[in-house]
Amino acid sequence: MTDHETLPAEEVEPDEFRDMMSGFPSGVSVVTAIGQDGLPRGMTCSSVCSVSLAPPTLVACLRHGSPTLEAVLAGGRFALNLLHSRAESVAVLFASGDPRRFDMTPWHSGPTAGGPHLIRDAHSIADCTVTVTQRVGDHVAVFGRTRLITRHQQHSPLLYGLREFRPWAAT
Ligand SMILES: Cc1cc2nc3c(=O)[nH]c(=O)nc-3n(C[C@H](O)[C@H](O)[C@H](O)COP(=O)(O)O)c2cc1C
Repeated sequence: MTDHETLPAEEVEPDEFRDMMSGFPSGVSVVTAIGQDGLPRGMTCSSVCSVSLAPPTLVACLRHGSPTLEAVLAGGRFALNLLHSRAESVAVLFASGDPRRFDMTPWHSGPTAGGPHLIRDAHSIADCTVTVTQRVGDHVAVFGRTRLITRHQQHSPLLYGLREFRPWAAT
């Protein structure tokens, strides 16, 4: 008898995959960009990973059809706002689809090579230019070369796992 259940990949349902990945907690970010209409776009994103140190490159996976993705692709640049532990309500807001989300949180437009900065809610911000994009199923993997890093480390990072938000616990 074994504790592990192995299924062929073609039998794995989306809910089962989501359940499994919920056991892989991560930080929480808001990816932001300026749209072609000059207005800010942004979405909560935890599918983010560091890719390369030289050049400094990260990847964020954004759902196909997202207005935020459209703005990122059109402008070729974005900001990755890493949320701190007091920013759970902002993570929920930027996952809600609410078109007024930027009216409800302080932000500024950020540098030329990047995107809007969530000045109250991010502990760190990476401004990036898009280097590679790859459609994978219902998402697009966006690789960004980091051009500028801004840090405000007064609070610990916000985490998300098992479908719950948690602050990084200081020991
Ligand atoms: C904690 C958390 C993490 C999320 N991570 C992602 C992600 O990595 N990629 C993604 O496409 N959507 C992710 N979402 C869902 C989007 O935030 C949500 O679909 C949002 O409405 C998209 O905004 P948009 O309509 O402007 O694209 C996440 C939601 C939550 C609550």
